[in-house]
Amino acid sequence: MNQSVIEAAAELIRDGKLVAFPTETVYGLGANALDAAAVDQIYVVKGRPQTSPLIVHVSSLEMARGLVSEWPQPAAILAERFWPGPLTLVLPKAACVPDRVTAGLPTVGIRMPSHPVALALIEAAGVPIAAPSANRFTGLSPTTADHVRRSLEVPMILDGGTTDVGIESTVLSLAGREAVLLRPGMISRAQVEEAIGPVHVGSAAAGEAHASPGMHPRHYSPATPLLIVDGSSLPEGNGAYLWRETPVRCECPIQMPVEPAEYAHRLYDTLHKLDDLGLDWIAVERLPSTVEWAGILDRLERAAYHNDRTGKSRS
Ligand code: TXA
Ligand code: MG
Repeated sequence: MNQSVIEAAAELIRDGKLVAFPTETVYGLGANALDAAAVDQIYVVKGRPQTSPLIVHVSSLEMARGLVSEWPQPAAILAERFWPGPLTLVLPKAACVPDRVTAGLPTVGIRMPSHPVALALIEAAGVPIAAPSANRFTGLSPTTADHVRRSLEVPMILDGGTTDVGIESTVLSLAGREAVLLRPGMISRAQVEEAIGPVHVGSAAAGEAHASPGMHPRHYSPATPLLIVDGSSLPEGNGAYLWRETPVRCECPIQMPVEPAEYAHRLYDTLHKLDDLGLDWIAVERLPSTVEWAGILDRLERAAYHNDRTGKSRS
């Protein structure tokens, strides 16, 4: 991407405006993390409750350390091993981080994204950038600039192509005595444990509601009812079946990748496209319950949440 485009976006950020930008996971809706009024606009544009804390994106370790009041050894090890990359670390916040960013929590979630456009933007802006996924609250996260364009009004969208990882970052809290996995992602619990030892699974990551503010059980949903199915019996009506091992006859059969990385990469774009077709349902073949699939399973379970609980589609 042209440096002058990055400079223009950085100027908007410094001016307290919003910019949507690509990261390696999903597109983010960014604002200067140190400017409470700028951060406020994120909540307005997304239609997001102020009880959801935002992730702050940094381009250097110094920038990360300026946002926290403690930098424990496990943070140093994980940053060294996984940054830049799809891992968010939750740590006690420094006084400079506005309460708006953390939804009043004494902790802040930080990550260094690996997308070159994200890094260039943060560096050019010279400030950390608070950004949730660039979609309306509870909608599907965007993995292309077009997904963002279709759901939000933003002064500027940086187009960095299709995102690589495809689902949101792993969120790990290092704020207490034990490391706690708050949201699984494509950096697995096993990979984190190999680096720092035992990791507990937060109840939100285990599928229960509200262990971490903002971890709403229903999240990441397409408008079309989504359900996870075990075998060959699909619902009545016209639907799509995302299969991985066993195809089943239906209106719209879709073969999904066998490997988790490729599956995650394709998932949201597939759901965005299917959502435009006006189908009665989207069924997904149940995935293995191994750590490599945990992040993907988590997103699918949240997307299916309402349908599983009520047996009906949500309005
Ligand atoms: O990959 C990602 O993480 C993307 C890209 C744009 O970086 N961002 C993203 O942001 O998914 P968002 O706002 O959609 O999700 C942020 C998650 C929420 O589940 C929130 O609860 C958690 O991070 N989080 C952020 N700060 C936290 C904190 N201080 N304590 C606990 N959880 C926190
Ligand atoms: Mg989100």
